[in-house]
Amino acid sequence: MDRLKNKVAVVTGGGAGIGRATCELFAEEGARVVIAERDEASGREVAAAITQRGGQALFVPTDVGDESSIQRMAAAVEDAFGKLDILVNNAAVFVLKGIDATVQEWREILDVNVVGPSLCAKYCVPLMRKGGGGSIVNLASISSVIAQKEMVTYNATKAAIASMTRCMAMDLAPDNIRVNSVAPGVVWTQIVERLTSEAGLDRKAAEADPAWGGAHLLKRIAEPREIAYPILFLASEEASFVTGSLLMVDGGYTAQ
Ligand SMILES: NC(=O)c1ccc[n+]([C@@H]2O[C@H](COP(=O)([O-])OP(=O)(O)OC[C@H]3O[C@@H](n4cnc5c(N)ncnc54)[C@H](O)[C@@H]3O)[C@@H](O)[C@H]2O)c1
Repeated sequence: MDRLKNKVAVVTGGGAGIGRATCELFAEEGARVVIAERDEASGREVAAAITQRGGQALFVPTDVGDESSIQRMAAAVEDAFGKLDILVNNAAVFVLKGIDATVQEWREILDVNVVGPSLCAKYCVPLMRKGGGGSIVNLASISSVIAQKEMVTYNATKAAIASMTRCMAMDLAPDNIRVNSVAPGVVWTQIVERLTSEAGLDRKAAEADPAWGGAHLLKRIAEPREIAYPILFLASEEASFVTGSLLMVDGGYTAQ
């Protein structure tokens, strides 16, 4: 229960879904968790839930689409803890568009999903250097490596994450900072709940549907905690020789 003892971890988008599950798991493993989330209500709620269970959490209102907000987040981490060991670049927006996407839609998704994680690294790495190293885990996706209908925008950003992970791993290795990404399949979070319900599927039907749960070898949709565990592994010392990798956590979706 103390795989992250004495570690300080920032999780962007920690207010919901995979980010929330990661914050909760990290706190259970002894980390001091910074919830860098733009939605005040959910950020506060996750911090309160962790604290109530005896964990340590700090909510820092953060918009990863805004450089000055990221700078303020890093300054708040330095003030509170004086160092940083782990950054999980999890926050993302789901602008799901084909070539009809507007320039404004492209800018929004590129700002949050691509520029945001890079700027988070830019302002967090100096705090990691202070502690002699660290670990960055970026949220990629099956969408990093496959084609999906009407998803030109989103898939471009997730392919960028896989590439940025390798480049950052190269640049930051001399600082003893490992950089890896996880690539989930379909996970029960708010976007998947919305899209399956729009398709007229209840939870059980979505698990079995060939376009949803049925597309994975394991024939189901993942729970957020099933993604949080691989993130924990990459963030922890157990992955001390792992850097530059893309870990598929996709129930065999891309193995077929
Ligand atoms: N859900 C899936 O099926 C799935 C599959 C593969 C990869 N992923 C990736 O996992 C990550 C998390 O996805 P999720 O489904 O848990 O998302 P989610 O929408 O459930 O949660 C994302 C959180 O990020 C926050 N957020 C959004 N924009 C932000 C910003 N600009 N600044 C700060 N916070 C912001 C939201 O408020 C929300 O709390 C994303 O990177 C996503 O691309 C998700």
